[in-house]
Amino acid sequence: MDLPRIFTVRESSHRTHNPLTPGKLDALGRALHLPAGTRVLDLASGSGEMLCTWARDLGFTGTGVDISTVFTAQAGSRVAELGVTDRVEFVHGDADGHVADEPVDLATRLGATWIGDGFAGTAALLRRSLRPGGLMLIGEPYWLRVPRDQETAEECHVTSPDDFLTLPGLIGRFGELGYDVVEMMPADQDSWDRYRAAQWLNLRRWLDRNPDDELAPEVRAELAVEPVRYARSMREHLGWGVFALMER
Ligand SMILES: C[S@@+](CC[C@H](N)C(=O)[O-])C[C@H]1O[C@@H](n2cnc3c(N)ncnc32)[C@H](O)[C@@H]1O
Repeated sequence: MDLPRIFTVRESSHRTHNPLTPGKLDALGRALHLPAGTRVLDLASGSGEMLCTWARDLGFTGTGVDISTVFTAQAGSRVAELGVTDRVEFVHGDADGHVADEPVDLATRLGATWIGDGFAGTAALLRRSLRPGGLMLIGEPYWLRVPRDQETAEECHVTSPDDFLTLPGLIGRFGELGYDVVEMMPADQDSWDRYRAAQWLNLRRWLDRNPDDELAPEVRAELAVEPVRYARSMREHLGWGVFALMER
């Protein structure tokens, strides 16, 4: 049980595996106005940057669960680096269906749309770990501009323009599901660039070091096409944001 290696090659230099910059992540944590001691469950916690920095800067405590052995090990190193070993732990495992042993104040899942079968299922899953009145954070893509054709949608790595909603459509849908949207932190073009463009140098450096690896042809092919695709389609069409929800 592990994340395919291409993901960890592509994002080897990333601390956050999503299009939020450190500044946006910090602003999001502060915008929630939660007290020190807030208990967090982070599903698909990646390299643990959100939980570690919020533990250091805001006094939160919590657990992260992620299926990647590489990212979970990085999260463990970050815990030590930021001096939050008494507040945060990371567990390697499948977060699908994961529920906290004790109710938490804040349950989160940033990225990994497929866990919980989309955002509606994710909200239902996170809700099971929350104390009454708790907050959840869901990171989710949406269309800035709906692709006019199938080809553009595929260049954004989705199967069809119907795969995502627009921002107002997504916020409206959270409401229909019975949640108030009480905060949000959308990525912007600059933070998207930091996430996507940083992957290309990772791919190139890895290729230079590992020319004979069995993954090399896949990495070479991706590096040859992704920068143009991103500039042509994803950069103009795809949005992503973190939404803070409270059950009505
Ligand atoms: C887009 S990344 C987001 C990581 C982290 N939340 C962040 O924002 O930096 C998606 C994460 O989901 C994890 N993942 C994918 N499927 C998973 C599963 N079934 N259970 C736990 N983690 C999973 C991946 O290993 C990866 O770290």
